[in-house]
Amino acid sequence: MTTPPVPILLDCDPGHDDAIAIVMAHRSPAIRILGITTTCGNATLARTTQNARRILELIGATDIPVAAGMERPLARDLVLGTADGPSGLDGTPWLPEATMPLDPRHAVDFIADTLRDAPEPVTLVPTGPLSNIAMFLLKYPELKPRIARIVLMGGAMFRRSEYITATEFNIFCDPEAAAIVLDSGLDITMVGLDVTMQVLIEEPEFARLARIDTPLARIVHDWLRHYEKLHRGQMGVGGAMHDPLALAAVIDPGLIGTRDAHVAIDLTASHAFGATVADYWGERGLPANVHVASTVDSAGFFDLMFDLLARD
Ligand code: RIB
Ligand code: CA
Repeated sequence: MTTPPVPILLDCDPGHDDAIAIVMAHRSPAIRILGITTTCGNATLARTTQNARRILELIGATDIPVAAGMERPLARDLVLGTADGPSGLDGTPWLPEATMPLDPRHAVDFIADTLRDAPEPVTLVPTGPLSNIAMFLLKYPELKPRIARIVLMGGAMFRRSEYITATEFNIFCDPEAAAIVLDSGLDITMVGLDVTMQVLIEEPEFARLARIDTPLARIVHDWLRHYEKLHRGQMGVGGAMHDPLALAAVIDPGLIGTRDAHVAIDLTASHAFGATVADYWGERGLPANVHVASTVDSAGFFDLMFDLLARD
């Protein structure tokens, strides 16, 4: 008897790696995308919302509704990410601008309606700053039981940042939102830099991708080439598969190992502002509030990604 697909809401800021996560979620029989909500982060909200719809049109998934959310963080000015260029999907100018309609509801209200209507609790998969999720929790606390769990890309336990020392971009961009989410009491899995920076697209993976001779694989190749070039320029390593790994951990939870820990967000006006501070040894005496991803099967991830891309 096959396992029924996991219903998810994908909250994202596409973004090249968000785009790969959307493609993988749509192609996986283990996932049912109930909707996509967009937030600012890798690019402005206008761009991330355009990009989410451009990607869905590209993959023939215009039946998936898209609702736009927060155009700035809860309590501070927007600091845009730099890994994807101003368009949010630089390197693919030939991808047409979106024509599919945008859901008229704000992302927060779209999430609420979707959770109310879903026959079972829904898994939230945020792969951008947590502004929409935090606002949803503030506005609709009564709907928390309709959330099965949250599997988010963000933070780090030990790994230094790839953007600003001691932080990871999704958390750094809206740390107050992250604090609200981590303190929500929900079942949260944090797929952070400790594991995503071990899943890097390099030449062997590009060679494997090139063997999947389909239009989609060629577009994914373009996205990843641009992304890898930026990553190598900034950090001297290949492109980290941040968001695709978070999504993959919903498809196959065995791809990551986790450690339960109390994780707090540094909101002090220090150089560590926006850092996720994990109490690895439980010294604070506070209850663990996060399953922190601490190990990863990188080869298993790429097997899954290429299998999904190669599917007819
Ligand atoms: O730090 C990596 C995260 O920041 C990813 O979600 C990437 O898309 C950017 O949003
Ligand atoms: Ca992202």
